Parts: sequence; structure tokens; C-alpha cells
Amino acid sequence: GKSGHEHYMLKEIYEQPTAIRKCLRERVSEMEESITVEELSDLGTLERDGPVQFVACGTSFHAALYGARLLREQGIHAQCFRASEYAAESVPIHSGTVVIGVTQSGETADTMSALRTANKAGASTVTVTNVVGSSAARECDHVMYIRAGPEIGVAATKTFASQQVALTLLTSALTGSASLDTIKRLRTLPDQLQRVLDESTAREIAMEYVDADSYFFIGRGYNAPVALEGALKMKEITYKHAEGFAGGELKHGPLALVTEASPVFAMATGENHVEKMLGNINEVEARGAPVVAVTDSPATLSQYADHVLEVPDAGPRLTSVLANVQLQLVSYWVANELGRSIDKPRHLAKSVTVE
Ligand code: F6R
Repeated sequence: GKSGHEHYMLKEIYEQPTAIRKCLRERVSEMEESITVEELSDLGTLERDGPVQFVACGTSFHAALYGARLLREQGIHAQCFRASEYAAESVPIHSGTVVIGVTQSGETADTMSALRTANKAGASTVTVTNVVGSSAARECDHVMYIRAGPEIGVAATKTFASQQVALTLLTSALTGSASLDTIKRLRTLPDQLQRVLDESTAREIAMEYVDADSYFFIGRGYNAPVALEGALKMKEITYKHAEGFAGGELKHGPLALVTEASPVFAMATGENHVEKMLGNINEVEARGAPVVAVTDSPATLSQYADHVLEVPDAGPRLTSVLANVQLQLVSYWVANELGRSIDKPRHLAKSVTVE
């Protein structure tokens, strides 16, 4: 059942602290200062410097962007491809290449086809999936389970958070780079996420902007994939126009679309990005757009933004997991106010088994 929630989507948003705890269980040891992913132990023998190619679709693609960034930060040559374009892009694959398919269902036809292409070309294949015994799990040399539990709502929510956490663990497993800081931050994340759920004012903000023409989402660094994800969720369940950009891209075109009727959700977390984001906020405010800052620096941002959605500081990478949860809630409450079919949006299916 929906445990008292009106929709599975809301139930699954609220299940995220538990989903993350399950993903971490027996993989993170504070005592030994280590991260182990049992399923990937034999991947350790691979060349550590990749290249690694992620293939995925939709929300899982956004998680893959996050994962590729994590690996690159550890010096691994990691790239991300939309699974539906992977074969057409003539990506060079050699025997040392590791191809990682990120897929909640493990059944997405485009992702399966990319993984088959990779297998045929002699790459080592890995899937990061939620479903035990799924097609992707059977196709790949290695399987890492995200352990989010079943997700019924068509819009992916808890599985995205679990993918972000799983890819953090995968990065440590592949590079042997588990800092005590990362371990502590992972351990604290479920409680911080619970705090976001308990204290979020996303519903009020959703009410304020339910009549908007368009919604824009901007973020930098680890928040850039979250900006894309925020827009995708908004489109899927509200049927309204929404777009996500890396903050720096605004002035290269999308700014022309910004008006008083297009609220901009600006993710500003971590010192480096807050400063640059303030520049982007000025650009959109000058065009009259209302700004909602999603930030771990509420004192600073409240001077610039119309509204602030606060998130705790979870470090330079994981704060984006929390920022995304605020955006999930905004989309949910807008869709709810509009009376949309939230758990089964029109034209969409939970698993897309045609290419
Ligand atoms: C978005 C959504 C879709 C899926 C995509 C890939 O909310 O659900 O974009 O993320 O179809 O699905 P999986 O992860 O099952 O491969």
C-alpha cells in the first residue's frame, strides 16, 4: 500500500532515508575506514584508469552524469552516453574499457542494446540496478544492486538517490579511495535527508508557482545533473514546460526564455558554486524571473532569492542528493495541485522495453 500517502510517488520520496541506509549496509565500515562492494570485488583487478563509459536513459542518465563526475575527480577517464545514441556515436571500445549501465529496472531496451554492443566489442560490463535477476543483471559481467526496494511510481525518485549513493560506493571500490570524510558523510546522509523531508517548505513554494508558464532549473558541478533531473521530474508529472541547464549555459541561449512567468530554481551549495550561482541569479532576476534558491547557505541566498529551500551541508558531492529531494517535492506538490495522474503520467511507462 501507500502507507497513508495519497500517491506512491510521495511514499517513495519519504522512503529515501531508508533506501540509502539499505544501500550502505555492510558496505561502509567506519571502524576500518573502508568501503567494500562485494559484488565488484573482482573488478579490482582491472586497469584502474579506465576508460569508463556510462550508458543510461532518463533519470538514470542523470545519475550516470553524477557518477562519471565522481570518477573523473579521482583521475579516471569517465564519460557518459545516452544509451539510445551509444551505438550511433561510434564510441571506441577496447578490452580495457569498462562500460557501466545504470538502470533502475534493468529492462530498458536502449540500455540493454548499449550493453550488448559493449559486450560484443570486448568491454567489461557492469550494471548498477535495482532489480535482482533483471535482463541487465544477466547481461553484464558484474552487477551492483542499489537496494532501493520496489519503486511503483512511474517517476523515479528513491532509485535516483540510491543510484547517487551506489555510484559513490562504486567510485571508492574502483579507485580504493574511501576517505573517512566520505564515510562519515555517507553515514549522516539518511538523517540529513530525513530533516529535509520533515522541514521542507516545498509545498508552499509549489502553491505560489502552480500557474507558471515554465520552470527552469540551474546548477553547477554536482548540481548540474540535478538541474536536469529537476526539470525532467517536473515535465513528467505536471505536463508543464520545464528545462534544466548548467548555470553557465544560461547566457548562451536559454536566458531568452526567462520571464516573470518562469520561476528559476537555482541550486547554490558549497562555497565555490554559491558565488558563481549568485551571478546567474542576477542574470535571471534582471529579466524579472522569480528565484527559488536551493541552498546550504540560506543567510546569503535569502538576500538574493525570493524564496529559499534549505538543505544541510553534506559535503561538496552529496549535498546535491538533498537538493534533488527539495525539487522532487516541488514537482510533486505542483502536480498534486493540478490534479495530475502522478503515479501513472500520461504516455509514460515504468520500464521502456522498446528502442
Ligand atoms: C524518469 C524515469 C525514466 C527512467 C528511464 C530509465 O522518472 O522514470 O526517465 O529513468 O526510462 O529507466 P531505467 O532506470 O529503468 O533504465
